[in-house]
Amino acid sequence: MRFDVLTLFPELFTGFVNESIVKRAIERGLIEIHLWNFREWSKDKHQKVDDRPYGGGSGMVIKPEPVFDAVADIQAKAATPGRLVLLTPQGRPFTQEWARELAQERRLLLLCGRYEGFDERVRLGLNPTELSVGDYVTCGGEAPAMIVMEAVMRLIPGVLGDEYSPVEESFGLWGLLEYPQYTRPRVYRGMAVPEVLLSGDHAAIERWRREQAVWRTLQRRPDLIERLLADPECPQELRRLIERVKREQSRRQKESGHDTAGNTGR
Ligand SMILES: C[S@@+](CC[C@H](N)C(=O)[O-])C[C@H]1O[C@@H](n2cnc3c(N)ncnc32)[C@H](O)[C@@H]1O
Repeated sequence: MRFDVLTLFPELFTGFVNESIVKRAIERGLIEIHLWNFREWSKDKHQKVDDRPYGGGSGMVIKPEPVFDAVADIQAKAATPGRLVLLTPQGRPFTQEWARELAQERRLLLLCGRYEGFDERVRLGLNPTELSVGDYVTCGGEAPAMIVMEAVMRLIPGVLGDEYSPVEESFGLWGLLEYPQYTRPRVYRGMAVPEVLLSGDHAAIERWRREQAVWRTLQRRPDLIERLLADPECPQELRRLIERVKREQSRRQKESGHDTAGNTGR
């Protein structure tokens, strides 16, 4: 998969492309990352690409000409035109589901804004997919672009190693949060690893993990459980587990007067 990143600060990606997983994916030919600076398409002798907003107000706005020219030239750099993604806090919120969708693309062009963002005609004329990494505002689109690239590239077969399954993690197959993970030592500061994980009984471990995933999703993200229950594809067995955990949670809440972690080690 090829990523073309259009930014005013390509140097911000230096560490990113040299980091172990990303670097290895590039070396193994699984991904390509091409960095482009909008300034190269500026017609201004000082390579200026921004200007003051019409109507007044603070900050600067990125002008449309260098962005349109850059996109046209960069699209022509490869045989397949890329899907154009504009990083903006006004876009559709990024999710794992969306990462899976983007991972099917052969090429993505990521437009990173700065200052007050892009002139509105970039959105109107280039018709990009508008993507937000969350309901907060960062200084530029570079950190959001790295989030998107990481989330997408780790879904490309081989990037994380052949044994790794992205189904077995938060927002995986049924959209649940992942169960708690433990490693050595068995007891740390009085906190013991649940016995079941030491039992060697794989079926029991599997049951415990599924129950824990439901338990913590109910506690932290009940919206995900509601969505799952509304999905006609949700298996009966999982529905029954959710109902059982719900009953258990409310029983414990009544008993203790507050929520519990559900981590009984059973
Ligand atoms: C300071 S922000 C501009 C915010 C813009 N004036 C607004 O209020 O919507 C500068 C750039 O950071 C990026 N950015 C900031 N927050 C973002 C978010 N939540 N998701 C994606 N990109 C974001 C965008 O590329 C944006 O053009």
